[in-house]
Amino acid sequence: MERHLSTVILLLSLCSIDVKADDVPADVKPGYEKFLRQHVYVDMTEKRCSSEMRERHITEGQTNNDCKKVNTFITAHKQELRKVCNGAGQSYEGSADKYVSNQPFPLVTCKLQSGDRYPNCEYRGTKSTRYIVLACNKTWPTHYDGDIIVTN
Ligand SMILES: *[C@@H]1O[C@H](CO)[C@@H](O)[C@H](O)[C@H]1NC(C)=O
Repeated sequence: MERHLSTVILLLSLCSIDVKADDVPADVKPGYEKFLRQHVYVDMTEKRCSSEMRERHITEGQTNNDCKKVNTFITAHKQELRKVCNGAGQSYEGSADKYVSNQPFPLVTCKLQSGDRYPNCEYRGTKSTRYIVLACNKTWPTHYDGDIIVTN
């Protein structure tokens, strides 16, 4: 009985840890999910620009279907990007909500080659490795704010 109870308690505490790990506050969730959809894909390659832009329906504005001119994908897991907001980044240029990553990240930048309107947008992708700047809200990334060329 004693043993059974401690097993139950252990399972319950494991569950709550698991829930907390992805417990995005309700008001931040739409921005966080949009950020993931537009900018995060661990398996991204230069060749996948046109298909990912189409599949994820990434366009210039919310209400029109103009092809977006440039979009950057960060080739990393979302957990790594959250860390930039939460320990693995520094406040950027004194801004309250912008953080620059302590480490460079591999990126794929997709640039529009031809087409005007979704879904007829053709992209060319280029790879680079750069420090990234994210806007964060309550420790969650909500915007990709650009990248900084690695110089050394
Ligand atoms: C965080 O997100 C909420 C909800 O969208 C917004 O009202 C608030 O201004 C944001 N805070 C920052 C620092 O961007």
